[in-house]
Amino acid sequence: MPGILLGDVFPNFEADTTIGKIKFHDFLGDSWGILFSHPRDFTPVCTTELACAAKISNEFKKRSVKMIALSIDSVEDHKGWSKDVMAFNSEGESPLPFPIIADDKRELSVQLGMLDPDEKDKDGIPLTARCVFVIGPDKKLKLSILYPATTGRNFDELLRVIDSLQLTAQKKVATPVDWKPGDEVMVIPSLSDAEAASLFPSGVTTKDLPSGKKYLRYTKV
Ligand code: BEZ
Repeated sequence: MPGILLGDVFPNFEADTTIGKIKFHDFLGDSWGILFSHPRDFTPVCTTELACAAKISNEFKKRSVKMIALSIDSVEDHKGWSKDVMAFNSEGESPLPFPIIADDKRELSVQLGMLDPDEKDKDGIPLTARCVFVIGPDKKLKLSILYPATTGRNFDELLRVIDSLQLTAQKKVATPVDWKPGDEVMVIPSLSDAEAASLFPSGVTTKDLPSGKKYLRYTKV
């Protein structure tokens, strides 16, 4: 199955989009990127997702993350659908604040391993799943999530994971369950206690556990 793994350089594909032809790496520039795919234009769950993404696009911008969607329809269809999406948000006069890739030949969907064998169009051809790819400024894949067509994504969760990815790219920490910015973080296991003490002057606290092992080390950044 074709696809892309964490740490791989994301393909520098060329594509037609609602803002014209792009080369993906040029589109990203020095920014982070998020590419999210949709099964089809003019479908209900996808419309709610794109509307939510549009509503919180400033949050992605604040984090220097360029957004781009993909669906297996034409640029013409995408332009029509974008108007529906913005009308759904009661912002009918505003353009969709990010482009949509037209993958009507499904070439990119195949290359990136995005087709969902369980969801087919009326001709029996597979639709794209709801894939999320987060790409770092080094153009490498930092996160991928795959949802089936029947389950819409949570874009607040995508912002939360981007906050974690950006923090953990800078500091030798990991973020625990349900972490949000401002919460305590965990010292990564590969750091010795001495290294942790010098890297985290705000202090490291350790939780006592029945095993006696001191691996739950918290700090503030
Ligand atoms: C939707 O976006 O509503 C959808 C698309 C394909 C299959 C199921 C739901």
